[in-house]
Amino acid sequence: MTQNNGFEKMNIQWFPGHMTKAQRMIEENLSMVDAVCEILDARIPYSSRNPDIDRLAGDKPRLIILNRVDLADPQMTARWRKYFESRGLAILETDAKSGKGVGSFAPAVRRLLKDKLAAYEAKGQVGRPILGIPNVGKSTFINRVAGRKAAIAGDKPGVTRGKQWINIDQGLDLLDTPGILWPKFDSQEVGEMLAITNAIKADVLDKETLGANFMLRLRELYPKAIEERYKFVPDPDMNGFELLEQAAKKRGFLVSRGEYDIERMANTLLGEYHDGKLGRLTLEAPPDA
Ligand code: G4P
Repeated sequence: MTQNNGFEKMNIQWFPGHMTKAQRMIEENLSMVDAVCEILDARIPYSSRNPDIDRLAGDKPRLIILNRVDLADPQMTARWRKYFESRGLAILETDAKSGKGVGSFAPAVRRLLKDKLAAYEAKGQVGRPILGIPNVGKSTFINRVAGRKAAIAGDKPGVTRGKQWINIDQGLDLLDTPGILWPKFDSQEVGEMLAITNAIKADVLDKETLGANFMLRLRELYPKAIEERYKFVPDPDMNGFELLEQAAKKRGFLVSRGEYDIERMANTLLGEYHDGKLGRLTLEAPPDA
């Protein structure tokens, strides 16, 4: 089932009921907040984002948190920053795992709400930003911001539970909402990007196909990463499975004479990307680039 772009078609399932409920919730919660903060995976800012937020947030001030910048290509992060800024959105780059950049969150929110906060202070009220989009390190980010185990980190969708207010700074509260706006899961490519970055459960996917398509993407964007990590120059005529096989050969993942374990190679490839062993690789460019 090869599509015209050479990528294999995958069957990815999703949970639309959960998404509708979340949208209703964000609409209800928006009336309580002054700003909207979205946390995205810096490697896939397009796929990890739900475009509905533009409509839902209306004209509230907005902050985009590009998380996992430690795993993303710095040049691409700079391009994404420019792209979002050109659309009037404030940007914060973070590595929630090490905590880098997280300390700038409260000051960034303060800048965003400068005028409102001054008015609130006079009245003794607090400013209330909101945070959405899970599965890109949100729990880790909130734990850092809150300075305690406010959210339980996990690597599966839906782990963040229960709405909670978290004090992030004097006079500044954050409303964290459970799975409030999932990435918009409406194309195969978006589904793959989310699976590759572990934002969705990869168990529901065919790992071999995912690995094969990821190989094709790497060959297109970062062929040197394949060469350096798996010790071969990716042949432009090979399909994704052949590239996986080539890597499996180099790794010595032999099943029987002349047959290599492609599934194991796919798991290894995805695991190594997750751990940053392939380098800092961003998988999507901003639309105007
Ligand atoms: P979620 O609430 O959005 O679902 O995400 P969560 O915080 O549970 O984080 C999921 C995984 O992403 C965790 O790794 C976490 O350590 C990692 N992570 C979060 N932010 C960053 C970041 O900025 N950089 C990097 N490199 N990783 C980040 P894990 O796979 O559960 O375990 P481990 O890799 O920490 O061992």
